[in-house]
Amino acid sequence: MKFHAERNTPIYAVREWEVVEEFFDIVNNYRSETIFSVGNGYIGMRGNFEEGYSGPPGTSAEGTYINGFYESWPISYGEIAYGYPEQGQTMMNVVNGKRIKLILEDEPLDMCRGEILSHRRSLHLKEGIFKRFLIWRSPKGREVKVEVERLVSLTNKHLAAIDYRVTPLNFEGEIKIISLLDSGYAEAFPREKDPRIGGEWKRYGLPVEEKKVEKDFAFLLQRTKNSGFSLVCAMENDLKTDCSYTTEEIHGVLEVGMAYVIRGKAGREIRLNKYIAYGTSRDYEQEKLATTAENIVRKGKEEGFERLKQGQQRYLEKFWERADIEIKGDPLLQQGIRFNIFHLLQSVGKDGKTNIAAKGLTGEGYEGHYFWDTEMYVIPFFLYCEPKISRKLLEYRYNTLDKARERAREMSHQKGALFPWRTINGEECSAYYPAGTAQYHINADIAFAIKRYMEATKDEDFLIEQGAEILFETARIWADLGAFLEEKGNKFCINGVTGPDEYTAIVNNNCYTNLMARENLYYAYHTAVEMQEKYKDAFETIAGKIDLTEEEILFWKQAADHMYIPYHEKRKIHPQDDSFLEKKVWDFENTPKEKYPLLLYYHPLVIYRHQVCKQADLILAQFLLSHKFSHDQKKRDYDYYEKITTHDSSLSTCIFSIMACDIGYYEKAYAYFLETARMDLDDYKGNTKHGIHTANMAGSWMCIVNGFAGMRVHDDVIRFHPYIHPSWEAYSFKIAYRGRRVKVTISRKETIYELLEGEELWIWHKENRFLLRDRAVFYECL
Ligand code: BGC
Repeated sequence: MKFHAERNTPIYAVREWEVVEEFFDIVNNYRSETIFSVGNGYIGMRGNFEEGYSGPPGTSAEGTYINGFYESWPISYGEIAYGYPEQGQTMMNVVNGKRIKLILEDEPLDMCRGEILSHRRSLHLKEGIFKRFLIWRSPKGREVKVEVERLVSLTNKHLAAIDYRVTPLNFEGEIKIISLLDSGYAEAFPREKDPRIGGEWKRYGLPVEEKKVEKDFAFLLQRTKNSGFSLVCAMENDLKTDCSYTTEEIHGVLEVGMAYVIRGKAGREIRLNKYIAYGTSRDYEQEKLATTAENIVRKGKEEGFERLKQGQQRYLEKFWERADIEIKGDPLLQQGIRFNIFHLLQSVGKDGKTNIAAKGLTGEGYEGHYFWDTEMYVIPFFLYCEPKISRKLLEYRYNTLDKARERAREMSHQKGALFPWRTINGEECSAYYPAGTAQYHINADIAFAIKRYMEATKDEDFLIEQGAEILFETARIWADLGAFLEEKGNKFCINGVTGPDEYTAIVNNNCYTNLMARENLYYAYHTAVEMQEKYKDAFETIAGKIDLTEEEILFWKQAADHMYIPYHEKRKIHPQDDSFLEKKVWDFENTPKEKYPLLLYYHPLVIYRHQVCKQADLILAQFLLSHKFSHDQKKRDYDYYEKITTHDSSLSTCIFSIMACDIGYYEKAYAYFLETARMDLDDYKGNTKHGIHTANMAGSWMCIVNGFAGMRVHDDVIRFHPYIHPSWEAYSFKIAYRGRRVKVTISRKETIYELLEGEELWIWHKENRFLLRDRAVFYECL
C-alpha cells in the first residue's frame, strides 16, 4: 500500500485547536464546506457562505440537514425480485436558515466576483464555532469587512445562531442585509457512477406548506411528500446599529425573511444576530411545531449570542475533559485527532431516535444512512468517553427492533430480527443486496456492541429493558440461517452471506461472520441463563413477549460450540471464506493507481472473482477477538491479507494500524494511523466534499487507545500494552470504565495511570496486574 500521508502536505494550517483556511479558491470550496460544517447531532450546517455562492457547478453544495429527517421514495429496479426493499430513504437538505444576503448599494457581495483582499474560514474546536473573516472589494471599488461567527448549539438541539458583522471600509451608502429562510435548492453534486454519492432528494424536493413574517420573526414549514414529516424552521433577527435604517418584509415563493436597509457609514459596524430553530414532527406534534420553534428563537434572542457562545464553550470544556487525546510532539496528528473527535460529537444523534450517519450531518454521501459503522467504530469512542451517548445509539436499535423483525420475516426467518444494512428509519433500504442485506454480520455487530457496552458500564437496566431482547432476537437469526453440515464435519455453517469486505460477496462461511455470530450466540445464551437466575421475572416477560423456548436457548450454545471456523492447515491462515483462497489474486502490479478505488472502474463481478479486499475483514475479527488468536497466527493472517487489501473503504486503515501495533509492526501502524487521523483534513480519499467519514474518524481514536496503547477489554479484564512512536514525546487519553475515569499517559520513559474518579480498579499493564488506587507508574513502556 502507498500511504497518501507520506506525500501530501497539509491542506489547512496546522493548529492544535483550530482548522483554518487562509485563501479562497473555488477548487477547494466544496471540500472546505464539509470541513467547516457545524452541528450538534441533530442540526448540521455545511460551511457555506451566508451570502450564497455563484461559482461553477460542482464546486459547492449548500447543505443543512436534520438527523432522522428523510424523504422516502420508490426504488426503481430494472429487474425486481421478492424481498427487495421498495422504499429508499434520503436525508433531506432542508430550508437554509443560515442565508444572509449582503448588498452594497447595487452590488451583492459575491465571493466569485470583485476582489477578495482577505479571507479566512475557521473551525474552533474548543469554542464550537465556525468563523469567517473577509475583506472584499466590489467591482465598483466598495470595500467592506465581514466577520461572522456561527454556532449550532450543543445545549439546545433545536437552536443555531449567527453573529454577522459588516463594516463598510471606504464608502457611505445603502447597505442591505437580507436575512432569509431559503428553501430553494442549490444543485447537488451529480451521482455519476459513484455509489457513495447521494442525490435522490433532488427529485423529490420539500414543498413549503406555510410561512409567516412578522417584524424580526419569520418561519417556514415544509412537508415531505412521501414520508409524511413536517419540518419547521423559524428565525428571530436582532439588528444592532447606530445608523438609521428601514425594514422590508420578504415574502417569496421559496423564501421568507426581512431586509434591513441601512444608511451605512465608513468604519461603523453593523451587527445582525440571527437565531434559527429547527424542529420536526418526529419531535413535536404537528400543531405545536410553529409555536415551539418560535419559543426557541425568542429565548435564543433573549439569551443573546454572547451567552450562547459561553454555554457552547462550557459544554465543550467538559467534553474535552473526557474525550481529548493529547499527542505531544506531533502537531499534525494532534490536529487530526481533535478534528475527528469534534466532528464525531457534532454528528452523533443523542436522542435514541436517531443515530450517526456514515457522513455525519455534513453532506449527502450515502444519503444520510446509518450502517454497522456505528457499532463497530463509533460506539467504542463514545462508550469510553461519553457512555450515555453510546447507550442512546443502542437504544436506537431497540427502537427499530420491530422493523428488524419485519425484515426477518421478509427474509423467510420465522423468528428473530434482522437489522438493515443501511437505513434511517430502521427499514432496510439497500437496493444492492450482495453488499447490502447479505451483510448479516450487522446483527452480530450490534450484539457485540451490547456486550462491549455491558462490559464497560455494567448497566443492567439497559440489558433487562432492551439489550437482552436484541441479543435473543439476533441470535435466533443465526440459529435459523446456519446448519450442521455433514460435508463440514457436522460443524455449524453459515452460508450465503457477505462479510465486511465488500469486494467479496455472497460466500459460505465468511470467517468474520462465523466468529462474530458465535459471540452473538454465546452471549445471548449466557445472558438468558444469567437472567433466569438473577432477573427471573424480567426474563419471563421477554420470553413471553417473543415466545422464546428453552430449546432455542440450548441450541444457541450448541451452534456456537460447533461453529465452523475456516482454516487452511497447509498455509496456516484463515481463509476469508470457504472459496476465497481458490480465487486468483488480483493483478495489483498491472493496475494503475488511477484505477482505485476499484469499485469505480470494475464491475462487481470482476472484483468478486479475485482475491482482493476492499477493507479489513478477518483482520477486524482478530482485533475484536484478539485474545482468541496467538501472536503468530495474527501475524500470518496480517501478512497475507495486507498484501491483497486496497483500503478502498475508509473503514480499513484504522484496523490495520491497530493490528500492526498488536503484532509489533510499529512503522506500519504509524503510517496507517497518519492516513486515518488526517483522512478528511487532507482529503486522502478525494471525496471529503461529499461529507466526512465518521467511522474512520472514530477509528483514529481506536488507533491510539486500542492500537498504540494496546487497550483490550474482555472477560472482566482491562489491559494495556503501550507503545510510543519515536516521533512523539508523550500521549494521553482518558477512559470511562465501570463508574471510574482513568487517565493514561504514555511518555518515552514511563506509563502513568491516574484514577480521576471512582473506586480502585484492577488493571493489567502488559503482564502485570495491579490495583489502581490513585496513581501508578511503570517505567518500562518502551
Ligand atoms: C464500506 C462499508 C461501510 C460503508 C459506509 C462502505 O464503503 O465498505 O463497510 O459500512 O462504506 O461507511
